[in-house]
Amino acid sequence: MVSERLGGRLDGRRAIVTGAASGIGAAVVARLKADGAQVVTADVHGDVDYVADLTGETANAELVALALDRMGGLDTLVPCAGISAFQPLEGHEDAYFRRVLEVNLIAVFRLVRDAAPLLKAHGAGRIVTIGSTTSSFGDEGLCAYAASKHAVLGFTKSVAAELGPFGVTANCVQPGAIDTPMTAPAFTQMPEYRTFWEGKAPLRRLGQPQDIADVVAFLCSDDARFMSGHGVWVDGGAMVRH
Ligand SMILES: NC(=O)c1ccc[n+]([C@@H]2O[C@H](COP(=O)([O-])OP(=O)(O)OC[C@H]3O[C@@H](n4cnc5c(N)ncnc54)[C@H](O)[C@@H]3O)[C@@H](O)[C@H]2O)c1
Repeated sequence: MVSERLGGRLDGRRAIVTGAASGIGAAVVARLKADGAQVVTADVHGDVDYVADLTGETANAELVALALDRMGGLDTLVPCAGISAFQPLEGHEDAYFRRVLEVNLIAVFRLVRDAAPLLKAHGAGRIVTIGSTTSSFGDEGLCAYAASKHAVLGFTKSVAAELGPFGVTANCVQPGAIDTPMTAPAFTQMPEYRTFWEGKAPLRRLGQPQDIADVVAFLCSDDARFMSGHGVWVDGGAMVRH
């Protein structure tokens, strides 16, 4: 449910959201639009404005050009595209490790780099990256994923430092366990994993994509104008006991 009180909060904003066909990205698109933003969406599949594997060398530049053409400007980036799978350290293949870094880190870097001139020109640009609780902690079977998400948090902080003088804020939302197509196989195959995360969160449930989208919309809004360079936990309180 989208609160009517907040309708129009993002009027005039022009955003790119990646990973928009599914889970958190799809919820972010719905939320930003409900708040009045124009959004250009991207994903490797699905009913989006730009269908491409965003690890392609020129894909993010093309996406920025499309956004500029469609909306006449660009001030907000929410790169949500990401991949994850459990892979024990031993037997972990180079190609898989590299792929996780390409999708979760390098594609985010390229999007931010290629859009930076437009965000600076706007004067109040917003970048909201999607990290994870594994941007701050590790877990078994998640070496590649946690490495990529630690890196996204560090990248976001550095972008905040570099683009802050141009009025651009950059923050990294760190979701806990969210019920999406990404996590569905693990929660289905290992019900005890689902129970673990439900029990770990003081709020006693998994997160829903909307829980993340609402915080992303806040960080994209003028309400968050003096907030930059932070990792923002949205985890039902799960990490309070870490
Ligand atoms: N679900 C969780 O518990 C959770 C927790 C912390 C962080 N996250 C992060 O949130 C983000 C969204 O995850 P989600 O749970 O909604 O997953 P999801 O699988 O539902 O959505 C991810 C989307 O990214 C797209 N994508 C993947 N690789 C791509 C590529 N190379 N080019 C273009 N698009 C690509 C997929 O097609 C998919 O639509 C990810 O960055 C993920 O790491 C998720």
